[in-house]
Amino acid sequence: MPLDNQKLLDVRSVDAPANSLPADGHGHVRDLETYKAMWKESVENPDKFFGEQARNLLVWNRDFDQVLHKSANFVDSPAWFLNGQLNAAVNCVDRHALADPNRIAIIYEADEPGEGYTLTYGELLKKVCQLAQLLISRGVKKGDVVTIYLPMVPEAVISMLAVARIGAIHSCVFAGFSPGALRDRILDADSRVVITIDQGLRAGKVIEAKKIVDDALESCPDVQTVVVVERTGKGGLIPGRDIKYGEAGKFKPYCPAVPVDSEHPLFLLYTSGSTGKPKGMQHSTAGYLLGAALTAKHVFGLTPGDIMFTAGDVGWITGHTYAVYGPLINGVTTVIFESTPVYPTHTRYWDIVDKHQVTQFYVAPTALRLLRKYGHEEIEKYSLKSLRTLGSVGEPIAEEVWEWYFHNVGRGRCTICDTYWLTESGSILGTSFPGVTPMKPGSCGYPFFGIKPVLINPTTGVEVDERPAEGVLAIANPWPSMARTIWGDYPRYQDTYLRPFPGHFFTGDGAAMDHENFIFVAGRMDDVVNVSGHRLSTAEIEASFLEGKLDNEPMIVESAVVGIEDELTGQAIVAFVVLEGWLKDKIAAGEHTVSDMSREAIQVVRKDIGPFAAPKKVFVVGDLPKTRSGKIMRRILRKIVSGETDQLGELSTLSNPQIIDDLISTVQNSA
Ligand code: WT7
Repeated sequence: MPLDNQKLLDVRSVDAPANSLPADGHGHVRDLETYKAMWKESVENPDKFFGEQARNLLVWNRDFDQVLHKSANFVDSPAWFLNGQLNAAVNCVDRHALADPNRIAIIYEADEPGEGYTLTYGELLKKVCQLAQLLISRGVKKGDVVTIYLPMVPEAVISMLAVARIGAIHSCVFAGFSPGALRDRILDADSRVVITIDQGLRAGKVIEAKKIVDDALESCPDVQTVVVVERTGKGGLIPGRDIKYGEAGKFKPYCPAVPVDSEHPLFLLYTSGSTGKPKGMQHSTAGYLLGAALTAKHVFGLTPGDIMFTAGDVGWITGHTYAVYGPLINGVTTVIFESTPVYPTHTRYWDIVDKHQVTQFYVAPTALRLLRKYGHEEIEKYSLKSLRTLGSVGEPIAEEVWEWYFHNVGRGRCTICDTYWLTESGSILGTSFPGVTPMKPGSCGYPFFGIKPVLINPTTGVEVDERPAEGVLAIANPWPSMARTIWGDYPRYQDTYLRPFPGHFFTGDGAAMDHENFIFVAGRMDDVVNVSGHRLSTAEIEASFLEGKLDNEPMIVESAVVGIEDELTGQAIVAFVVLEGWLKDKIAAGEHTVSDMSREAIQVVRKDIGPFAAPKKVFVVGDLPKTRSGKIMRRILRKIVSGETDQLGELSTLSNPQIIDDLISTVQNSA
């Protein structure tokens, strides 16, 4: 990342391609001056700006009587659109279904090409209403949390909207999570209903989703209902508890929606923090929907008839905001893609773009890095002419990858929207505006409406005004789609986001801004690792490592997990472990090997969290670097694994500096 000031000044600026300017007449930003004026109004007069936007973009059962209620000095989360009432499903489905029932809402691109289908807004309304009634018949009420453990199938979208239609709260858990992680999330949310699938299919492989749910539910006695989508028809139902999703077809095609208060929770989405316990980020109904609607419209330049393909999963925030809510509120078509970018071949994305005439394509750099390796020849055979905006999300995009995306996929005609945001923000914080703002490779552009980004000096806590500069990235004002709390733990919410830099929302990222105020995000400053766009906490993995056993005995005394740069996944995980005495003896005697130990330990992580969290490498060391108060200094381990042993920095706070040489030689010898 070009975080050094001189390098920042050298980043070239690319003009906004005129092609990606959305057609006139739909209220988009059409030039830089308008963007600047709108941004200024949005931060200086949020009541006026967001009040108008909320009345324009959302449909209300009852108008709100105050736009923003905020605390002095931003010590509490805000409330937006007070006393307004609305329903998310009505906003996403009913209004389009009633006006234009035959418009395509969902293009389902199934794992096997050619096996998908489409759903119109009219059909979507019917399916959402039917499932809503099935849920009501199983006792689901306003305010209940329904856990959704589904891969990218249309039923995932239908489930989210059906839950929202009756005022319940959805909690989607990524279908790559293991039984243990799923159990923790069900218990934390006190969820009594789970929606899942008999088996998922991904790249021709079967995912035993229902089995994972069954395992998880062994320790969730309060779950009374499991709704099972039939994808392959394999696997049984547990009588009394399980019910086929298909039973929804017995209900009538329409049921009224339950209007909820603006601040009523729409969903929870769990994300990793720097401690082991995942945080259930709670998003509000009105503020979140407005953020999704407004960003989807302006960042991607959505116009009627557009087909948006967000290649993210509904198990993460990208899927929520830009595969489901954003496109549907705007009444366009969303592509729900069940497979991977390389199945059956590595041209799958381009097949989809040309086949469905996709206008907006949104993906994480990790997929782009992979596809770029296949060279230019094949991609040149595709037209890709329908594309207008190309989004990137989840991690910084390296300049070479940016250039490849811009030229080879976008053919120089599309705006690259490097979108910076996080689960907590609900919607995009920083980005380019299609056809309007100049782009700089590696920069996520300018702040979105209502976002006032600032850099803070981490040591003094003071805002840094000069440019170029770097610092901690914080937001100086509340915005509509920010998460309102951590489910069941408001003090942790305040401690994590609002207390570190009083008066600001702390993003957790380090960043720089250049002389023109372009934002360059460097990455997380906490112990959070980003593997293929999946956010993982090092503490969570460390805790699970300690559970590993050989001969029924604990193997590991302590462990430290760090992220290192990885060509494909962005970051990869490596672990340092200190072994129990008995195991050291057995290894010395040749009765066990280090690889027995790492295999077992990695197995526990796969089982506790999910295969994507498995460390790539495990180093056995005598001791871990610690401060005098006993905190593990992961910064030093990160430097050692990335070979930057000449940049270990300040070592005087270490209680055990003598171990450094040993750590270095362990890493070097295993290279
Ligand atoms: C973290 C949030 C937001 C959806 C996907 C990830 C990193 C996100 C960018 C970007 C550089 C980025 C940050 C952030 N990140 N987008 N465009 N450039 N870094 O959501 O799991 O909540 O992770 O992803 O470090 O804090 P998430």
